[in-house]
Amino acid sequence: MSSLNLQKKTFVIFGGASGMGLATTLTLLENGANVAFSDINRENLTMRLSELHGDLKSRAFIQIADVTDREGVSEFLNAAKAKFGEVDGVANFAGTGGRELGTEAVWETSDKEFQFIIDLNVKGLFNILSESLRPGFLVEGASFVHIGSQFSLQGFKNGAVFAASKHAALGMVRSAAKETGARVRVNCVLPGAIDTPMHRANLARVPGFADALQTPISRPGTAQEVADVTVFLLSDQGSFVTGAAWSVDGGASAF
Ligand SMILES: NC(=O)c1ccc[n+]([C@@H]2O[C@H](COP(=O)([O-])OP(=O)(O)OC[C@H]3O[C@@H](n4cnc5c(N)ncnc54)[C@H](O)[C@@H]3O)[C@@H](O)[C@H]2O)c1
Repeated sequence: MSSLNLQKKTFVIFGGASGMGLATTLTLLENGANVAFSDINRENLTMRLSELHGDLKSRAFIQIADVTDREGVSEFLNAAKAKFGEVDGVANFAGTGGRELGTEAVWETSDKEFQFIIDLNVKGLFNILSESLRPGFLVEGASFVHIGSQFSLQGFKNGAVFAASKHAALGMVRSAAKETGARVRVNCVLPGAIDTPMHRANLARVPGFADALQTPISRPGTAQEVADVTVFLLSDQGSFVTGAAWSVDGGASAF
């Protein structure tokens, strides 16, 4: 088995200031890569950079980017390339379950909630894919990873628009993989319940939220467990994997 071998490689992360995006950013840095990471949350992003030291800090670059803003996405991608010379991979963790996940049936869902989820989970991915997959932007043989959900493959009771947005994103990833071929591998990681600030907020907001998430491995996953699979797919170790939907869900999708 080849090693990760990430020295001198550069990765661009969207939604990198928290949860799985942060764990992936740190794992890439710890394995010797340059990492440009962005987020909409300025305070968290600045704090994450200030927590880095020495060699890791010298290989890190931050910029505020809202994935729903195509121009901002493009500016960040170009700034990362200008800083490090070339870009070997991109991963997108920015996403949402919506403000009412788990509490509203489809007939109770407002236009505002619908638009918020679609803008972030579908248009956000479109912005990043369309700006980063332009021929010549990424190195030949680069890797793109999008973070979907176990609900990219399943319905979510009282979360129809969330599930629809994650299904749509998977369709976009699979289509892009067919378009880029060997030039860029494009994959989706599908987490189940993962112990992150987002998951904890849902548990606190919705009584019984965890009941719907029973799995053969009966615990939430860790952000590191998702980061490890994402980094594998970003690295050359995943060289024959493209167009894939890679579940990291404790077996939730086995039902
Ligand atoms: N935690 C889970 O149980 C779980 C399960 C399945 C899928 N997911 C998905 O995984 C992804 C990451 O979730 P997490 O649990 O690590 O969440 P998190 O809230 O810990 O991190 C998400 C990050 O995205 C950032 N973000 C939000 N909107 C943004 C925007 N418009 N532009 C740029 N950044 C933005 C947030 O500020 C935050 O730093 C999301 O797409 C989520 O839907 C999470």
